[in-house]
Amino acid sequence: MKLTVDDNLCSGHGRCYTLVPELFTADDEGFCAQRGQVVEVPAGLEEKGQLGIDCCPEGAIALADDDA
Ligand code: F3S
Repeated sequence: MKLTVDDNLCSGHGRCYTLVPELFTADDEGFCAQRGQVVEVPAGLEEKGQLGIDCCPEGAIALADDDA
């Protein structure tokens, strides 16, 4: 499972790194530090990955295209 964090959609709600610190961290301004990156979800953490997708109110976190 791979996720993307849309650089333009993330507005710093912080739910991703609060609820799923295994996959997401905050940058100095409170945005998701993984913006614009592909996040590889380790085996066994797929439910956490899905929680990341579901928790972002901006819909910034999604399955990567090659993993959809
Ligand atoms: Fe950004 Fe959504 Fe996380 S707005 S900080 S990716 S909850």
